[in-house]
Amino acid sequence: MTEDRNELDLELLKAATEARKNAYAPYSKFQVGSAVRLHDGRIFSGANMENCVLPLTVCAERNALAAAIAAGAKRGDIATVFIVIDSPVEASPCGACRQVMAEFMEFDAPITVYNLATKEYYVSNLEKLLPKAFTPESLKID
Ligand code: THU
Repeated sequence: MTEDRNELDLELLKAATEARKNAYAPYSKFQVGSAVRLHDGRIFSGANMENCVLPLTVCAERNALAAAIAAGAKRGDIATVFIVIDSPVEASPCGACRQVMAEFMEFDAPITVYNLATKEYYVSNLEKLLPKAFTPESLKID
């Protein structure tokens, strides 16, 4: 994906890289870390958490968002999401995570994916990753 290379948020890179070390990924061995920054500056992180019942796996991004929500973050409070992978090829957030991000974030908010293997990163957003999304506004039918 050839998208923006905005200035890298080193604090989020560190938080997501640290969280990634706690990933529980014995099945895929694909460890992911994520960190979200709120508009007030606070940072919350998460890692992927797999399960022997494979569909119960929860991605790093959703765990980071859940940590923010548990600490009191509301819809619109999430300024940016940062994801750290270690992969020979580029990767993107899964569809489920895109949908969950759409619940809480503005569609122009930056979503960064940083690859430890290549030290490459790209910055995207939900406008690009989740066009024609179903959003909370979609439910307002008056
Ligand atoms: N995974 C994430 O944590 N985030 C993503 O954006 C993509 C995939 C996890 C889920 C699973 O534990 C492993 O990576 C392989 O799919």
